[in-house]
Amino acid sequence: MSVNDPVTPEMSFPEGFLWGTATAAHQIEGGNVNNDWWAWEHNPDSGCTESSVDGCDSLHRWPEDVELVAGMGLGAYRFSLEWSRIEPAEGEFSLAALDHYRRICAACRERNIVPVVTFHHFTTPTWLTARGGWEASDAPEVFARFVARVGSHFGDLIGWACTINEINLIGVMGYALGSSPPGVKDDFVRHLAVNDAMVKAHRLAVDALRSGPGKFPVGLTLSMDEMVADPGGEDILAAAQEVLEDRFMRATTGDDFMGVQCYSRVHFGPEGQAPNEPGVPLTQMGYEYWPQGVEHCARRAAAITGIPVLLTESGIATDNDTERITYISEVLRGVRRALDDGVDIRGYFVWSLLDNFEWSLGFRPKFGLHSVDPKTFARRPKPSASWIGAVARANGLVPAPA
Ligand code: BGC
Repeated sequence: MSVNDPVTPEMSFPEGFLWGTATAAHQIEGGNVNNDWWAWEHNPDSGCTESSVDGCDSLHRWPEDVELVAGMGLGAYRFSLEWSRIEPAEGEFSLAALDHYRRICAACRERNIVPVVTFHHFTTPTWLTARGGWEASDAPEVFARFVARVGSHFGDLIGWACTINEINLIGVMGYALGSSPPGVKDDFVRHLAVNDAMVKAHRLAVDALRSGPGKFPVGLTLSMDEMVADPGGEDILAAAQEVLEDRFMRATTGDDFMGVQCYSRVHFGPEGQAPNEPGVPLTQMGYEYWPQGVEHCARRAAAITGIPVLLTESGIATDNDTERITYISEVLRGVRRALDDGVDIRGYFVWSLLDNFEWSLGFRPKFGLHSVDPKTFARRPKPSASWIGAVARANGLVPAPA
């Protein structure tokens, strides 16, 4: 069997299924010195391993990145806008930055790539964090003003819009786990208040985009896991699902789609999150290798929200590219099973186009379809890049290269 073999009907995907890859501004652009993550990376107490410094230099090399997407044969590119570039000081909008992102959308359009634009991917401008970040009473309105400004500048070119990436993580990582800025631990009251602010920001952003130029699907993305209860963990599991996922899924009423992002499975015991199941292999992130989680989460999201699902991120951190192909193949088999059962899934985006800055873990985890030379920034395709391109062109699961 080879990548050129015809796709069997049972492994083909619905017409118009979007095949893409995803990135995020802070993880690839470089030089994003004006947001909360930059400060966090440079805080010796944060536990971050290194600075994002130049990222993958995509601020300058974005035309090459768009070419890579086109060259693979993918039909969509999901990337994010760096709010702190577009609005470097409160209320001051940079036309040059707006034009920059408009050019990326236009370059995608010229190559028949659907631009999927994310408005917030974890980073918040320093001027907002200085006055409370997502706890500032007007944070949702301030975010919506930024979204409206972008919409009026290049809404005509946007293909799909994700308001907030992994809307559930800002609260839990920033105020419960303390692993993201502002690094607060175990403050449930503040965590829930930030969750409310995020939901409000999302709803205002949806309205802002719908009242501006362009007509495109709008939704949020959620970080999901296949959550399972170990003996005695049923109540904790239910509570975790409510706070981490269900609260946000209910907030999608009126949206056009929901973005699902699942990387693994997590266990809950009577005391809270429990250890991984012994014997299940781990990825570079220390997550269980659990490709079937994506199918589980897509089904769950569709059942709870009743709106179409877009798999806005899925991938694996590994140095072994063959393992990446096997992992994504297994994910796609699960997606196909869900489609067979009538689950409305509209597309699949590999995380990520490039090996990039994996937040507090720095550049070590390798999620990319392309490696990036740390000195020259030269991009080099891995076998998974041409393989996922073949999948997209065939609109179906083709075998791994021999
Ligand atoms: C995030 C990405 C991140 C990826 C892999 C998602 O949580 O949206 O920014 O790099 O997972 O960990």
